[in-house]
Amino acid sequence: MTYGRILDMKPALPEFRKEVIASLSDNPKWIHPKFFYDRKGSDLFDAITWLPEYYLTRAETEILTSRCGEIAALTDGVTRAMELGPGMGRKSLMLLRCIGGLKEYVLLDISMQSLEKAVELLEAEFPQKEITGICSDYLSSESLPMSGNQSRSMIVFLGSTIGNMETSDAERFLASCSRQMKNEDLLFIGVDMKKDLKVLLSAYNDSSGVTAEFNLNLIRRISEEFGVDIPEGTFMHRAVYNESLGRIEMHLDCKADLSLDLEGTLIRFRKGESIHTESSYKYSPEEFGKMLLASGFSGYTRLSDSRDYYSVFIARK
Ligand code: AVJ
Repeated sequence: MTYGRILDMKPALPEFRKEVIASLSDNPKWIHPKFFYDRKGSDLFDAITWLPEYYLTRAETEILTSRCGEIAALTDGVTRAMELGPGMGRKSLMLLRCIGGLKEYVLLDISMQSLEKAVELLEAEFPQKEITGICSDYLSSESLPMSGNQSRSMIVFLGSTIGNMETSDAERFLASCSRQMKNEDLLFIGVDMKKDLKVLLSAYNDSSGVTAEFNLNLIRRISEEFGVDIPEGTFMHRAVYNESLGRIEMHLDCKADLSLDLEGTLIRFRKGESIHTESSYKYSPEEFGKMLLASGFSGYTRLSDSRDYYSVFIARK
């Protein structure tokens, strides 16, 4: 059975090894968060979205369902949506249900597994729509596959994935979106908001340890893809809030001295050293609104959940 169309433009596997060798040779050590999402990591992230502490998904879902009428009105006339990083496609489905005028839905994801599931899910409920999956590293590519024709389109970027970018990169990304958009096009973007510290910290230190497993999955991936042995328990998950930068940081703390031979490059870890694996920026409504206006958008509407934990910004060029 084939569902829709899927184009594979994924970077070859060596990209992981090349990038990881480079970023672990840096001081301090880091790994790009896009590498969380291999098969196991995508499943673990899906498990995170169901955690009681991980409010982000529920807040975004609340907006997409309870504000459906407003979303339909604000996106009236849009016929094509292009979603970056749809994961399993549950939110894509909500958007298709809200916005009846959508004829074409394009999904871009770095994980082929998620993409297949997402395309299958959308095709099952909307067989009459044109659904296309593109497996690619959309964050590294300079240009997005915008439509060649005059149809009004919308770039969809949910899940507060933009929070993973440094603020300057986020601004560059927003500017690149607006530059590629036509005047009537929209950007539909989900952003996590600054809030009570306890709420923030428990979302990244859940009681069942799924987030720890998600973070540690990078160590398993390194062992597997480089064929090196890293003893169980060498690294530990740590998530903290960096108040001055307004971001959650995830780290993997090294509990013992360790040397790894990664394809001939020797990487040394000292006990107590850590790998910075993710930043998750939190914005105030004003901060993010300013970024939109500074990036070439002329205006926006903000929709939030009942607790104002999370926002969806619908921005006009
Ligand atoms: C998918 C990037 C939004 O930053 O909250 C979840 C990923 N990391 N738990 C986030 C994540 C730890 C997530 N984003």
